[in-house]
Amino acid sequence: MDFPIFHLDFMGNRMLVAVIAILHVVINHGLAVGFIPLVTWLEYKGFVINERRHADGHAWDELARKLMFIGFIITTTVGALTGVGIWFAASLANPASIGSLVRVFYFAWFTEWIVFMLEVVFIMIYFLTWKKSVTSAHSKLRHIRFGLALSIFSWLTMAIIVAILGFMMDPGNWLSKHTLLQGFANPIYLPQLIFRTPVAMMIAGTFILMATLYILKKDSPIKREAVKTVSAWIMRWTPIAAVGAFIYYWQIPRMMIGNLPVAIATQQFQDWYNSLLWVGVFAIAVGFIVSGSGFFFPTRLPRPLMVIPVVVSVLFLGTFERIREFIRKPYVIGNYMYANGLLADDYPLYQQNGLLSESTWSGICTITPENELQAGENVFAISCTRCHTTHGINSIVWNFERMYGAGQPLNPDAMKAYIKQMHNVRTYMPPFPGNDAELDALVAYIIFEQKEPTTLEGAQLRGPSLFGNLDRKVTN
Ligand code: HEC
Repeated sequence: MDFPIFHLDFMGNRMLVAVIAILHVVINHGLAVGFIPLVTWLEYKGFVINERRHADGHAWDELARKLMFIGFIITTTVGALTGVGIWFAASLANPASIGSLVRVFYFAWFTEWIVFMLEVVFIMIYFLTWKKSVTSAHSKLRHIRFGLALSIFSWLTMAIIVAILGFMMDPGNWLSKHTLLQGFANPIYLPQLIFRTPVAMMIAGTFILMATLYILKKDSPIKREAVKTVSAWIMRWTPIAAVGAFIYYWQIPRMMIGNLPVAIATQQFQDWYNSLLWVGVFAIAVGFIVSGSGFFFPTRLPRPLMVIPVVVSVLFLGTFERIREFIRKPYVIGNYMYANGLLADDYPLYQQNGLLSESTWSGICTITPENELQAGENVFAISCTRCHTTHGINSIVWNFERMYGAGQPLNPDAMKAYIKQMHNVRTYMPPFPGNDAELDALVAYIIFEQKEPTTLEGAQLRGPSLFGNLDRKVTN
């Protein structure tokens, strides 16, 4: 309300954030948090073997270096860009929520940026000093120690951010006592960290297993041992990931009880919850099968098939993130701020005084027959566009048509009755925030959109004001 509304009327804002975020999480977990410790471990193995068999030791070191080259290129380009991109996209989509998070986690975020900058610098140093490090045992050991420090740093960047993600799902005691410590101690933080850490290790293992099979020539003397080592890594982390996933899965319903009104067992929630279970079981099974085959038959692992565990891991992480986003609804910060960026505590004010008169960027205070459509458009922009578009993904017109019959004229009374109850019918939607006149205007606007589809431009195209996309239509 205090910010101009950014809106993508075809793909929706959520999709923009989701695409960037999932890409980032896959890179962060699979090519940094879990990747660097495994590369360091392979480098260390090379160091130990080098004492006995020099040529083999060198081959191990080269394998680790080549793997790190992949990690280095991807994390410092797409990884770093999407990392910053998430917060840019999220601040556009929901500035009020990012504003609140910055206020609560100011020092955590400040630390995060420093740790993140150091991580990028360390990754560069680690990779770029690799060739020099082979000159003596002393410098190799120092390089390995550096890899260890880097592993800790990349885990730390994740550990800080996960506190914020957990907080958004359920702020816990912070709701009664607004301190940074309470924000950190949210009930979903540790379960998420316990889940993400081994999953990152496991996913990185599948990435590295595939890359190893491509990097090493068929007749490479270390191939057998290298495939075995990476498989053993996956094998070790898979059961831990299973336990982590279970702890997290077990924690969700407890969180939901606090967050959702009576209808906790809605069909939608149950479906998502079940899909998390099945995708989890499937991913863990694939993890075991692949690592088992790699461990017991290291020379017989077919390269192209290695795409499967990689795809399954990405799917697993993607499903998990999607569900994390979904079950947080109707809130963006549990029990505190709704997904539309309005504070739950401010609702009575809006419902009494009207949403538009409290909104900085709407020029309308009193709704008249002349400005009703613009008013409706403004109400829609404020209260529905965080999740709906006019005619694109999750289209509002399509959603109403689906309920009352495709192409059929929409019934304003039925729509009004529905919107007043929408938070009870579909618990992932926030209650309608406006007053009765605004509800009438919103319904008039949606019906107009059904008859004469127009594109609702966001502030990025039409400037900050909410007022005016339909100006021409009405005055002509
Ligand atoms: C927090 C996100 C969110 C907000 C805000 C939101 N919705 Fe929804 N809405 C959804 C989702 C998700 C669906 C489900 C779409 C699906 O089933 O594919 C949905 C479905 C609907 C449906 C179809 C319901 C059904 O029973 O099939 C209607 C109608 C609807 N929304 C109207 C609105 C209106 C009007 C507003 C604004 C006043 C609004 N929504 C705000 C997320 C939201």
